[in-house]
Amino acid sequence: AKRSPSKLRCPIICIMGHVDTGKTKILDNIRRTNVQDGEAGGITQQIGATFIPKESLLERTAQLNKGEWDLRVPGLLVIDTPGHESFTNLRSRGSSLCDLAILVVDIMHGLEPQTIESLNMLRSRKTPFVIALNKIDRMYDWTENTNFPTQETLSLQKDHARREFQDRYDKIVIEFAEQGLNVAKYWENPDPRTFINIIPTSAITGEGMPDILQTLVDLCQNRMNERIQYVPAVQCTVLEVKMIEGLGTSVDVILINGKLKEGQTIVVAGLEGAITTQIRALLTPQPMREMRVKGSYIHHKEIEGAQGIKIVATGLEKAVAGTSLLVLDPEDDEMELREEVLSD
Ligand code: GTP
Ligand code: MG
Ligand code: NA
Repeated sequence: AKRSPSKLRCPIICIMGHVDTGKTKILDNIRRTNVQDGEAGGITQQIGATFIPKESLLERTAQLNKGEWDLRVPGLLVIDTPGHESFTNLRSRGSSLCDLAILVVDIMHGLEPQTIESLNMLRSRKTPFVIALNKIDRMYDWTENTNFPTQETLSLQKDHARREFQDRYDKIVIEFAEQGLNVAKYWENPDPRTFINIIPTSAITGEGMPDILQTLVDLCQNRMNERIQYVPAVQCTVLEVKMIEGLGTSVDVILINGKLKEGQTIVVAGLEGAITTQIRALLTPQPMREMRVKGSYIHHKEIEGAQGIKIVATGLEKAVAGTSLLVLDPEDDEMELREEVLSD
């Protein structure tokens, strides 16, 4: 496909890991929201998406980058996934969509079954990732330094708290080695191409949040420039099929590349064959708001990837999540697209 050389799209980041390691809480901290508190049983059961705009990235990393950061991406699109063992399919869907990932590990628990499952999904797709070593505030006698960069807060800890952190960290390094993975604290990483960066964090105190955002963006900009070049050809995946009261049927999609427009004809896979329909409305949540949480949507005449979008259209009841959405342009052959979408 044709590329506009200098234009970068939003990188798509997937958050993965064992249940209750703090994936949603990390996003809540970054967004300043309380999505996790509203989840049934505190368990995530759907894939979500949140757009973090450039301005928010700059604001949340200010203490770390001292205003000297060359931020070239328009923002980040972050996909939250469930960690509960029964949602392997949703983790797989999330990881298949993303450019890179955050693997969240609870420092009190180390590697757990779905940590290893997630790790293997990422490795099989060769998806670059960073590790958030979360819940550092749970070290005995931890001194909370709200929203501080990791190294700063570590240097301000009492000796015994820092020692407990180091002991737990050392154990987890060995657990990763047992999985065949070299890991290192990101500021001590001897070779970022062979050692995965670890970022110690607390989703409750915000410690390490600047570090995680900056490390992710740097990884995209330095190592994935080619992959996140914006491409005009539409590349779009259905995340969820939903009914919205008063609006009819809708699908939540991730538009990776290209542009969608109101009124366009789209083709998606359905349980009983392909579905051809018209885009009635294109909606997104507000920036820094979760797509899976009901809120006030922004209406768009057209919208460009990467973005999480709610598409309202008739006849989507039987659309199949996890498949591609295609746009039927006047010069396209509808039958061909209907076949293509079913072969997905
Ligand atoms: P699933 O989506 O269900 O897999 O869980 P999750 O990984 O999204 O974890 P979640 O955000 O639901 O957090 C699980 C529990 O851990 C909640 O009670 C959080 O308040 C708590 N928690 C998350 N992060 C931290 C942290 O950094 N420190 C402490 N002390 N508690 C945390
Ligand atoms: Mg969650
Ligand atoms: Na949870």
